[in-house]
Amino acid sequence: MAAKKKEIIIERANKTVYREGDVLVKAFVKEHEKSGVFNEAHITSLVESFGVPAAAVRFVKEIDGKWAIGLDFIEGESLAEKMKNEPENFDALLEQFVDIQVAVSRFKAVGLRNTVDKRAEEINALPDLDPSTRYELLQRLHGMKRHTKLCHGDFNPSNIIIREDGSWAVVDWSHATAGNAGADAALTYLELTLQDPELAEKYLKLYSRKSDIAIQYIQNWMPIVAAGQLAKAKTEEEKALLARWISIADYE
Ligand SMILES: Nc1ncnc2c1ncn2[C@@H]1O[C@H](COP(=O)(O)OP(=O)(O)O)[C@@H](O)[C@H]1O
Ligand SMILES: [Mg+2]
Repeated sequence: MAAKKKEIIIERANKTVYREGDVLVKAFVKEHEKSGVFNEAHITSLVESFGVPAAAVRFVKEIDGKWAIGLDFIEGESLAEKMKNEPENFDALLEQFVDIQVAVSRFKAVGLRNTVDKRAEEINALPDLDPSTRYELLQRLHGMKRHTKLCHGDFNPSNIIIREDGSWAVVDWSHATAGNAGADAALTYLELTLQDPELAEKYLKLYSRKSDIAIQYIQNWMPIVAAGQLAKAKTEEEKALLARWISIADYE
């Protein structure tokens, strides 16, 4: 039998994502922690067990010396591609984006780490944070109620795939936690702000309305999630924006 063709979807610093027949393979670079690969597969399989429309895990294995996860390939177009290709439908696609995020947060995330614990760990690990800001952030964080809603942790339009029949699936679950929907929305808002501040504001209003969560409550999470994102920030512009968000915790 002839080997199946590999179609590269995306190449990133830490991995290559490709399609091979009906499987989507995420092959990580050799330096990537093996436990991180198993952790992503574990989280994804838990999400699958909740009944969330997601790509099922097919395998974790070493391919040419690199640890790789195999998932069902979802045939379709990401919401990010659709937003770019169908500007006339932009508002409807943004609504769909928010509807899917609200639908995801209705699942109870049994067995996933709590958002509060993950964020506390991130804040404690930040090397250059002044102690008073760290204290304010942790006080704020521990004042939040602990919820058990499914939070994706990187809910952005590139991680939602729409099939031709209109059904959807969410991918890329490595950052998922059990927690507060408002924290997940704060993360999405920050990500969108970096791309397009106007779109971020529009998203926030729409999300608040559809989820029935006050904008102020989502904003309360922003300094906390901004601190978590700081360690991953790639550009100086990104760092400056996140630092601005973090400093809000100082004078409120
Ligand atoms: N199971 C899948 N089926 C089809 N396409 C996928 C699947 N998983 C990921 N993709 C596509 O590959 C892209 C990158 O994969 P993703 O898991 O989001 O990794 P990254 O961490 O690089 O964002 C996604 O934005 C999506 O377009
Ligand atoms: Mg992704």
